[in-house]
Amino acid sequence: METLTVSPLTKPFDIVIDNIASDKSISHRCAMFSLLANKPSTIRNYLRGEDTMDSLRIAEKLGAIVKDDGEIITITPPEKLSEPDDILDCGNAGTGMRLYTGLLAGIEGSFVLTGDKYLRSRPMKRVADPLRTIGASIDGREDGNKAPLHIRGGKLKSFKYHSPIDSAQIKSALILAAIQSDEKSYYKEDLLSRDHTERMLNGMGASIVTNKDGWIEIEPLTKKLEPLNITVPTDPSSAFFFAVAAAIIPKAKVTLKNVTLNPTRIEAYKILEKMGAKVQFIKTEDIYEPIGDIIVEHHELNGITVDKNIAWLIDELPVLSIAMSIANGKSVVKNAKELRVKESDRISVIVENLKLCGITYIENEDGYEIDGDQTLSKATVQSYGDHRIAMSFAIAGLLSGMVIEDTQCIETSFPNFNDILNSLRG
Ligand code: S3P
Repeated sequence: METLTVSPLTKPFDIVIDNIASDKSISHRCAMFSLLANKPSTIRNYLRGEDTMDSLRIAEKLGAIVKDDGEIITITPPEKLSEPDDILDCGNAGTGMRLYTGLLAGIEGSFVLTGDKYLRSRPMKRVADPLRTIGASIDGREDGNKAPLHIRGGKLKSFKYHSPIDSAQIKSALILAAIQSDEKSYYKEDLLSRDHTERMLNGMGASIVTNKDGWIEIEPLTKKLEPLNITVPTDPSSAFFFAVAAAIIPKAKVTLKNVTLNPTRIEAYKILEKMGAKVQFIKTEDIYEPIGDIIVEHHELNGITVDKNIAWLIDELPVLSIAMSIANGKSVVKNAKELRVKESDRISVIVENLKLCGITYIENEDGYEIDGDQTLSKATVQSYGDHRIAMSFAIAGLLSGMVIEDTQCIETSFPNFNDILNSLRG
């Protein structure tokens, strides 16, 4: 089991970081969507994390030819996706499993999706149930709720579905099914979840449009899509660990380069700004999404209540809890029950680890309350197999020192996290 020991920073940093991990959500989608194209797709800056490499290997097992020269990944789709002769392993990735479930539900053949022990304990009915209503055959443990999932793909019907959960994974699985049916489908969510699927598929020639009543209208594909030609931007959720590092270390400043500034992905930076940190967004280009630099500077932080736009913060709340612990005054997170079904039960894991660091809090079913004005103490905490928990407490360690156990999971999304963390020391 890997352990990460972080010692406190002794001086502030002012650093430009241009090698933060590429966007995980966009990378997964590159692997999958290139399977639907008529020609090879060209991907630069593909995230070489375990989760997204698993998605790429699955694309290969489905018949794609993947060439990787170390810089550019070229994915040549097969004429027709083939039934693999083995199981498809999504590793730790909920995105991999849920999106592939939607894609494969419409493809003739037998497919088995599995993952690591954490992924095999996460709920899959949220995609299996709506897909079953349109004719998909999906089975698994607990009546199709837990992987391994067996999908017998085939013809799908169109649908009109208002999702009870704001989730890009559910939405994307349903969109991937909808484009394979015969008629227009409609999908609605209460809060627009990250919309990379809509942007990328539209860029490839699909028609996915939100109407004035908030329904996403999805036309079936009449022909194969155009290939992707993309440089994957920096992942704002990975970059956010260093945004919080700058916000909590007196006199620190960080410039995060080439980040996607998609409005559904940068809400956490806005929360940090509301808490008092200085935050600037500098847009430099627009390729499928707005892209640019984010500059974050330390300033005294105040407590905050976070009860809205939770789907836009779901991956950043763990490290925000570190900023909340040292802020002036109490912070409250509510309406965030979804945190309980991420890579770990993030509500109980955040408060459990904060308790070990001497922070007082109240745990609620849908969130937590953290008393501010506190000093973090050095502790030995567990990652519970959740990369974002491991990295959040590594950032806390810059203030207090920290030992984080079971940190192999960082490889799923941010393989060079430790190198960047060390570079803060000059
Ligand atoms: C993701 C969507 C989010 C997020 C995950 C990646 C995606 O999950 O937490 O890390 O790429 O679609 P939900 O939309 O299911 O909350």
